[in-house]
Amino acid sequence: MRHEYKGRFITFEGGEGSGKSTQVALLTDYLNKRGIQAIKTREPGGSSGAEDIRALLLKGGSDRWDGMTEVLLHSAARRDHLVKTVWPSLEQGMWVVCDRFFDSTLAYQGWGHGIDLHSIAVAIGLSAGTFKPDLTLILDMDVTQGLERAKGRGQGQDRYESMDVSFHERLRQGFVDIARAEPERCALIDAGQTPDQVHQAVVERVEAQWLRN
Ligand code: TMP
Repeated sequence: MRHEYKGRFITFEGGEGSGKSTQVALLTDYLNKRGIQAIKTREPGGSSGAEDIRALLLKGGSDRWDGMTEVLLHSAARRDHLVKTVWPSLEQGMWVVCDRFFDSTLAYQGWGHGIDLHSIAVAIGLSAGTFKPDLTLILDMDVTQGLERAKGRGQGQDRYESMDVSFHERLRQGFVDIARAEPERCALIDAGQTPDQVHQAVVERVEAQWLRN
């Protein structure tokens, strides 16, 4: 069921190094140039409190938090982000383009860490209610290539990047399964292409859904 806000909520998902941040910026610029007021944001983060929780989640050794604690921290961050940033912006009629949302919790904590999907669904319900994205663009690419790209950014590895390759393979499968289960909301996009080609694929999907004519 679609939410009742005037604006649209578009999320990008994918593994490490899949180019989400670039695509979030490109789509936001594209929408603004089309005369649609759009803002970009991210999870975990996107509000002052959620950015504080992000620092807790990304720093430290890979075993700093167990999987269920991660679900709870990501959910707390999500709640603050929704209440302080996303919902007020949608209410004003803006479009919100978000780098990761609840599908990351399903893929990383569910498929990746093995937390049961029912518990995750409960946490998502507590933090977001029935609210969901209008469109989710999932950037899919080879895990090893993605991790290499992420390393190339030179910011040092965060907790998730330092998890083993099988963890990343599992969450990639998670995103593919999510896309298959919800084809109306989710589009799987080949992120092995150039950033320009990926942007074209994104724009085609957005145009097909809302902007033609
Ligand atoms: P990123 O902004 O560089 O993508 O980093 C955020 C990290 O947090 C990324 O490794 C994925 C992870 N994450 C989860 O594990 N679960 C979640 O619910 C979200 C939103 C992110």
